[in-house]
Amino acid sequence: MDLVVRNARLRGESGSKEIAVRDGRVAAIGERLAVQAEREIDAGGNLVSAPFVDPHLHLDAVLTVGSPRFNESGTLLEGIAIWGERRPSLKKDEVLRNAREAVLWEVANGVQFIRTHADTTDSALVTVEALVELREEMKDVAEIQVVAFPQDGIFTFPEGEANLRRALDMGCDCVGAIPHIEFTREDGVRSVELAFELAEQYGRLVDIHCDETGDDQSRFVEVMAKLAIATGMGSAVTASHTTAMHNYNNDYALKLMGIFRRAKMNFITAPFDNSVLQNRTDGYPRRRGHTRVDELDAAGVNVSIGHDSIMDPWYPMGRGSMLAAANLLMHTAHMSGRERIRRLFDMITDNSATTMGVRDRYGVRPGAPADFVILDAPDEFEALRLQSECLFVVRGGAVVCETAPAKRRLLRNGAAREVDFRIPPK
Ligand code: FE2
Repeated sequence: MDLVVRNARLRGESGSKEIAVRDGRVAAIGERLAVQAEREIDAGGNLVSAPFVDPHLHLDAVLTVGSPRFNESGTLLEGIAIWGERRPSLKKDEVLRNAREAVLWEVANGVQFIRTHADTTDSALVTVEALVELREEMKDVAEIQVVAFPQDGIFTFPEGEANLRRALDMGCDCVGAIPHIEFTREDGVRSVELAFELAEQYGRLVDIHCDETGDDQSRFVEVMAKLAIATGMGSAVTASHTTAMHNYNNDYALKLMGIFRRAKMNFITAPFDNSVLQNRTDGYPRRRGHTRVDELDAAGVNVSIGHDSIMDPWYPMGRGSMLAAANLLMHTAHMSGRERIRRLFDMITDNSATTMGVRDRYGVRPGAPADFVILDAPDEFEALRLQSECLFVVRGGAVVCETAPAKRRLLRNGAAREVDFRIPPK
């Protein structure tokens, strides 16, 4: 064997497990494997999980916070305006440099699957060129999908539709739209229809920034659901954000849940951005910004979590940690029940892998690619509570990142002891 991980815990299984890896794939999993390997890793009783998945990230804008200025109002619209000021001067090398760095941050945090959005507004399509190139460059550490994303709308300027088509010709994996930014409801509906038409024509997936507003009259997600059913595209369809759903009346939301389940479409919520961007006009009381995560999940709809921004005009913070994103959502979405916390972990792993359509090559099981992370925590609960480090990130059987957790030596009354934020044994 090339690698054996011993003393590991696996999700949903009791007892200690060993994982053997050969030729880039998981060769065997058992309680005690009589194998030798070139490298052995003692997982120390920690959780070994399939890698984290970030199905929604704007890599063309990462690490640009403050350039040309900070978003002082904190709104989505000021963020779009700042990005619009920056966009004409974008250089491919700079986009690539920032995006590459952000991908490596995510990899160090255990992410190996990323869906990113490339803005198609500027006709130079520098962002598309850069991210399609990055997709190939980063294959050793992460699988990347690129969405052709019309940030300023498709029908709000003459080149909108042509740019979207050109981005697909350049190799984008998914078709995007942003119907709530179009000038009229009719244009918004047409933009969703066009995204589906192009996805069918080009054989691509659909991922639409849908109803990312506090406006309870923004109802484009119903159009997406109808088309997901009518075209049979189902699980190839993803609605990102849908924050307006938070503010829908409950009767309308209840009706939608059944349609979504029938549509088999996916949802992505973005705790970092949605918690600061949406419902900014509320004053007090102040509604929360995210979609109806618990209701969608309870209705059997696939919900996943995206990081969305890392230090850009929309969200000034972030370090590429999906555990941090899920931890935030636990608070804002009232997901603090034991079972709900387990579901949060699903939303940054299995559910997001479903959204990206990569389940055939995802998961810690014999025969699958040896892509996994060894967390500094024994289970999902502790991983989320501690926002734990990934001690090891393994991709295709190779260790691509190792992390030494911080050690804290507390000095008190002349004695020293370590603090690791865990309940000490009795
Ligand atoms: Fe987004």
